[in-house]
Amino acid sequence: MIASKLNKIKPSPTLAVTNKASELKAQGLDIIGLGAGEPDFDTPENIKNAAIEALKRGETKYTSVDGTAALKKAIQAKFLRENNLHYELNQITVGCGGKHVLFNALYATINEGDEVIIPAPYWVSYIDIVAISDGKPVVVNCSEENNFKLTPTQLDKAITPQTKWLILNSPSNPTGAAYTFDELKALSDVLLKHPHVMILSDDIYEHVIYEGFKFYTIAQVEPKLFDRTFTLNGVSKAYSMTGWRIGYGGGSAAIIKAISVIQSQTTSNPCSISQAAAVEALNGTQDFIPKNNATFMRRRDMVVQMLNQAEGLQCQKPEGAFYVFPSCKGVLGKTTREGKKIENCTDFSNYLLEKHLVAVVPGLAFGMENYFRISYATSDANLQNACSRIIKACNELK
Ligand SMILES: Cc1ncc(COP(=O)(O)O)c(C=O)c1O
Repeated sequence: MIASKLNKIKPSPTLAVTNKASELKAQGLDIIGLGAGEPDFDTPENIKNAAIEALKRGETKYTSVDGTAALKKAIQAKFLRENNLHYELNQITVGCGGKHVLFNALYATINEGDEVIIPAPYWVSYIDIVAISDGKPVVVNCSEENNFKLTPTQLDKAITPQTKWLILNSPSNPTGAAYTFDELKALSDVLLKHPHVMILSDDIYEHVIYEGFKFYTIAQVEPKLFDRTFTLNGVSKAYSMTGWRIGYGGGSAAIIKAISVIQSQTTSNPCSISQAAAVEALNGTQDFIPKNNATFMRRRDMVVQMLNQAEGLQCQKPEGAFYVFPSCKGVLGKTTREGKKIENCTDFSNYLLEKHLVAVVPGLAFGMENYFRISYATSDANLQNACSRIIKACNELK
């Protein structure tokens, strides 16, 4: 009954962890979920009020397929103000979340067999979206020694005549690692030698950065790459608006037009009320961003400090996003009290969930064995409790 093309993709493993944790919770178990990829803060009041006002004005009809003029102007101003990127309005698209825009951009451009370079660990959806678009994901493993970042040499080696896209994600989900100006410049130098490669820069965590780290996006670092870069962003993470489903992208007019055709035959416009709210998110006060980041940073520091006390775990302190990606190499080969051997990061994650009631996502879901991801977008009390459980879980292993 189900089409064979569906065999190319699998359900999102991060959502699967969240679902499993919810199931166990429903059975009455005191599970602490560290799987979610969304801020635990509420959407700011000014943004909610903008939505209420739009409702009252009766903005309840279809809008232009790929976004209202007001939102596109707000996005245009945002790209200029924050990234020094000059997009025309016909170079901007709005979709139902960053994931939707990413899907449309890849689906609109990938022909069968086209290669897409994806540095690992990667956000889970890249692989599946490339696969269902008939493309070939080319995964490049980025080592912890280089903070899980792609090196120019690795990039140069991975490029072939079939390479269509390079996907960059900074700050990264799942590692939180972010590229500096110089690191992006070094990658740009390689890309300038290969004019057939397009770059998809996923900047969704742009605003979630700590300790004065300066965010850059690749088209800003190397303006010669502007014409072949698709800059992806959205309001989900910075503005705590995951449920509103607004993402956007800037790219060549040809890609933007193709995306509009896909959207016109699939979703039509993103929700009109959410678009009005997103205008306020981008144009209104940005005051809550540093406040939220101060909270995230305090949590990050606490989690890193506690996890490094757990026998067999090792955790770096990342520059951004709200994830840490600790190594569990030191627990592999050990045995639980029940006599089960921990062979890999999936065994370890299952052990944490089933025996110690903490839900994390195994690194394999992000294309990297021997690690796991923790989202610290939850309360300090939850995090403290969860990390204490993880320390105990590690101490119990023999
Ligand atoms: C790296 C990355 N890109 C894009 C997205 C898409 O977010 P949304 O579809 O909520 O805008 C996410 C969400 O988890 C993400 O982690």
